[in-house]
Amino acid sequence: MDNTRRLLYLDAMGIDVWVSRTDHGVEKGDVSTDIGQPETVASTIDNNLDEWQIFQEQVAACQACSLHETRTQTVFGTGNPKAGWLLIGEAPGHNEDIQGEPFVGKAGQLLTEMLRAMELNRDQVFIANILKCRPPNNRDPKPEEVSACHGFLQRQIQFIQPKIILAVGRIAAQQLLKTDVPIGKLREKVHYLDKIPVIVIYHPAYLLRSLLEKRKAWQDLQLAIKTFRTL
Ligand code: URA
Repeated sequence: MDNTRRLLYLDAMGIDVWVSRTDHGVEKGDVSTDIGQPETVASTIDNNLDEWQIFQEQVAACQACSLHETRTQTVFGTGNPKAGWLLIGEAPGHNEDIQGEPFVGKAGQLLTEMLRAMELNRDQVFIANILKCRPPNNRDPKPEEVSACHGFLQRQIQFIQPKIILAVGRIAAQQLLKTDVPIGKLREKVHYLDKIPVIVIYHPAYLLRSLLEKRKAWQDLQLAIKTFRTL
């Protein structure tokens, strides 16, 4: 059984698969025990799994905006669909469009390092984007593309029910918080999206270009950890 399936089974059975080994309590516990499934529970679990699977297929087939004409494939998102942490970036770039996974290029490597600094790995979070398809030449998302994709992100948030959201970069932050306030004024604060705390962090692609901002980036991650601990 793959790990996602096993986690969903355990979670649906009310078995807490997250044990606090770090201060912010996000590391996986021992999920290796194979436990028999009462029939009623098993059907709930299967519904959840089916729903997530069908949802991914719906995203993969989407033609709601013109980006479907230029994409190689959709990028649904990766990680644990029951994670406490949801990271939301802007849109797939060239590497993500080819590989079908978010944040796999150089910026993605830096994001992985930023997670590691928080004692998290990519299996302990879910990573998604505002857009599921790559805008040509990595241009900014157009408003009609954001609204065409909005329902997918909403469904992801509803399914995952994260404890905290990290808005990765200006565009993700401004879209999620429905504002055009500059990122410099959005960071260092706890925002809320339907009662879920949202922390704005610099985009790793920006950090690769602006090494001087790395100290601020660490401050943002610390605010995220501090906020998570209060939940
Ligand atoms: N930048 C993003 O915002 N998302 C990705 O998936 C890759 C790069």
